[in-house]
Amino acid sequence: MTLSNTKEKMNSWNSSLLLNIPIIDKQHEKFFSMFDEISHINSDTIIADKAQVERLLKELSLYTIYHFKTEELLIERSGATNLKPHQEQHSIFKQKIDKFINDQSYEDKELVNELVVFLRNWFVMHINGMDITYLNDVKRYLYKD
Ligand SMILES: [Fe+2]
Ligand SMILES: [Fe+2]
Repeated sequence: MTLSNTKEKMNSWNSSLLLNIPIIDKQHEKFFSMFDEISHINSDTIIADKAQVERLLKELSLYTIYHFKTEELLIERSGATNLKPHQEQHSIFKQKIDKFINDQSYEDKELVNELVVFLRNWFVMHINGMDITYLNDVKRYLYKD
């Protein structure tokens, strides 16, 4: 087994999610490592440290702002279409995390696990359904001579 296969087994990130825009791919991969970190704590046999789960969710929320701003700026500058519906999808994702934190739902391990699975699946669909629509324009914008 190669090193990359081993890594793919341990981490839910995988190469089928690559857009081949390194700045974006690195951020997407970071999201998956955050999802994995939270779900790992949740499934641990040791009683989950609620303060730690809360901290990780807040980090996820902050990273969400950073990533979505990066994408929205690139979409705007490259002249790619779909900015508005794309922003709307981003906003739904962000609201979902923030409502969860504000409701203190991280107190319940099962709810945390459900949220992480939902967000991870949503993220895969978002990359394949929405992020992919800016691919050509952003590549042209970033890599033009
Ligand atoms: Fe996006
Ligand atoms: Fe994205």
